[in-house]
Amino acid sequence: MEQKDKPILLDVDGLSVSFATDRGPVRAVSDVSFRVHEGEILSIVGESGSGKSVTLLSLLGLHDRKTTQVQGAVSFRGQHLLDLPASRMRAIRGKEIGLISQDPMTALTPVYTIGWQIAEQIRAHEAISARAARKRAIELLGEVGLSNPGEAVDRYPHQLSGGMRQRAVIAMALSCNPALLVADEPTTALDVTVQAQVLDLILRLRKDFGSAIILITHDMGVVAEVADEVAVMYAGRIVERGRTEQLFSAPMHPYTWGLMASIPPLSGARLPRLRSIPGMPPTPETIPPGCGFAPRCAFVQPACAEPPPLHRAGDQAALCIIDDTERPALRRAALPLEETP
Ligand SMILES: Nc1ncnc2c1ncn2[C@@H]1O[C@H](COP(=O)(O)OP(=O)(O)OP(=O)(O)O)[C@@H](O)[C@H]1O
Ligand SMILES: [Mg+2]
Repeated sequence: MEQKDKPILLDVDGLSVSFATDRGPVRAVSDVSFRVHEGEILSIVGESGSGKSVTLLSLLGLHDRKTTQVQGAVSFRGQHLLDLPASRMRAIRGKEIGLISQDPMTALTPVYTIGWQIAEQIRAHEAISARAARKRAIELLGEVGLSNPGEAVDRYPHQLSGGMRQRAVIAMALSCNPALLVADEPTTALDVTVQAQVLDLILRLRKDFGSAIILITHDMGVVAEVADEVAVMYAGRIVERGRTEQLFSAPMHPYTWGLMASIPPLSGARLPRLRSIPGMPPTPETIPPGCGFAPRCAFVQPACAEPPPLHRAGDQAALCIIDDTERPALRRAALPLEETP
């Protein structure tokens, strides 16, 4: 229950990612730090373009090494991932870390059938025959909701629809019972009916094998339900992180308030209309100096032109100038729903 008792599986410290462009390097991810404890679920939330996928792909070595500069330290089971050669990283990805990427083609090889790819993954960590691995691949494809898995198993990735490919990737990620599953929007491409089923499969990994999970999702309802820990990203930074219960009951950052104000309430009083955060998130080229959220923040002050301090409250922390004495009143103004019984 207490996360402090659980060993740290993944420790990301000061991760920054820059891309080389015609106009020089642009930084998409800045000084991101988080930890995943064994058997726990960390959810990363934030608007489109906030750097969620770039963070995960670069710590897994899936960035283009020619055009991308990755700084910081990433430790997984005592191994420093950023220092490993690509071949070693590939072996870890197939075996100890499963990836359900937002773009299924990142995980699939076009030149082999999906059945072969799943079976190979199983055989990389289990001493079973090719025949048994194929049988297991067909079972997995059925479990992720592919109709006629016995036929799909012999198809190449390009012969599947987008949704089918996504399911094949999920089957592959589940096949190795990874210590860590990284799931980047694993259900968005799927039908609503299959979404819940796939989420259940992912959660079963933790139940059956004690796998830890990093789950990127736009669905705050899912976050509240399944995550142990939440990291909120904005403009390439984690602007707030904390234990789920604490973060949902007393969010600290105005951006988190905005995200929560835009969740439709499940029951009780409804807002006359769903609020949204005015304005658009910046691109890496247009992130302002100082606080990246300042241009959209209802509580902006002159000091926000400088980099914001990190405020802590127990396990929770937020990058924001608002201090502990003024925060509750501002939060009540931002989140009037809090008042409803
Ligand atoms: N190879 C690249 N070269 C230049 N810029 C890139 C590259 N890859 C990503 N970016 C930029 O980095 C920013 C962060 O992208 P990222 O894919 O991490 O967003 P995200 O938070 O995953 O968004 P979404 O919710 O839409 O998936 C975006 O502005 C994107 O355009
Ligand atoms: Mg993404």
